[in-house]
Amino acid sequence: MRPTWLLYGANGTTGRLVLSIWQKAFPQLPPPLLAGRDAFQLTTLSQTYGCPYQAFSLAELPTIAFSELPHLVVNLAGPYENTTLPWVTWCEQHGIAYLDICGEWRTFQRLYARHSSVPLITAAGFDTVAGEAALYLLRQRYPQARSLQLYIYAQGGFSAGTVQSALTMLPHGYYQWQAGQLHPIPFQEVRLTLQGRELLFFSATLAELVTFPAWNPDIKHLATWVALPPRYVRWRSLLERVFAWQPFAERLLGLVRQRRATLAHRMHLSAESFVLAAAAETPEALLLRTPQAYVFTAWTVLRSVELFLAEGAAPGPASAFSRWRERLWGSLPGTWTRWQPI
Ligand SMILES: NC(=O)c1ccc[n+]([C@@H]2O[C@H](COP(=O)([O-])OP(=O)(O)OC[C@H]3O[C@@H](n4cnc5c(N)ncnc54)[C@H](OP(=O)(O)O)[C@@H]3O)[C@@H](O)[C@H]2O)c1
Repeated sequence: MRPTWLLYGANGTTGRLVLSIWQKAFPQLPPPLLAGRDAFQLTTLSQTYGCPYQAFSLAELPTIAFSELPHLVVNLAGPYENTTLPWVTWCEQHGIAYLDICGEWRTFQRLYARHSSVPLITAAGFDTVAGEAALYLLRQRYPQARSLQLYIYAQGGFSAGTVQSALTMLPHGYYQWQAGQLHPIPFQEVRLTLQGRELLFFSATLAELVTFPAWNPDIKHLATWVALPPRYVRWRSLLERVFAWQPFAERLLGLVRQRRATLAHRMHLSAESFVLAAAAETPEALLLRTPQAYVFTAWTVLRSVELFLAEGAAPGPASAFSRWRERLWGSLPGTWTRWQPI
């Protein structure tokens, strides 16, 4: 039987969570074809979850023979600067839909410039689903809100892939959306109290700066921020400079990859994450809560796969949230929203 979906990067931190939640909570969703470049780890996962597997690198992808082609490729392998183009090119050649959890704004700029003949279901992960949901719900209540701020506070640790993606973006600067395009800004910080805790938020060029204006072209301004412990930020300026040197960048990315199991082990999967959407034109802001970011990402991926397999999706690039909005948001467990004065 034709496998309905292929999961690439299945052995990563997020891939493993997707498989674990798929097994517990998605009995109606057919087993994915597990894929990635590590045959040993895929064999173990295949035995644990009873899914078929195929090991190949992205360099091998153009020549790989599949016994049956899937309907949908779910690409969880990041940094996406390296993995999006090979998969999107392959999907377009074979008429297959593509889905990812990319959060890298430069990759979105390239993707959103494509006139693709297949659905490119992008940004189906925590930060963009929760971020776009908060901005969307704010604008549902206050349609006049056009100067927007988005603050993201994800607790419970980071995966090696997230650190690698963040490092890859580091030398490319900070931006906000202003009058129809991205504008460079200096690195800034702001103090906010969320859930009774005073937090430091820092400038971050998040995916929403590309994905949200794509379906909300009337907004005037959007700035995005993330809360980070000050100890990470102390290294920022040095890292920005040395990361531009390719041999150093490759060495550092390799070291981070070696720490994948340690970082995954240290995660607190029961932690909570919060997103705050505010606007210059509104008297209140929307606070939104989700489960831990990687657990939530596993749910957003699985629900998006389910929605795609049930309904299909329009061709071209568009974020998962913009495609399914309330139907995606309303089916995700452990979320709540609350209005609070600014
Ligand atoms: N939007 C969101 O909210 C969100 C949430 C979670 C994750 N993410 C993103 O998703 C990506 C993966 O995260 P993760 O937590 O699963 O990271 P991870 O635990 O480090 O796993 C990375 C996975 O990607 C594969 N991979 C990396 N580079 C590859 C390449 N060039 N070719 C083939 N496979 C490659 C790895 O394969 P090997 O084992 O062979 O190295 C591994 O399977 C990251 O970019 C992260 O930023 C986004």
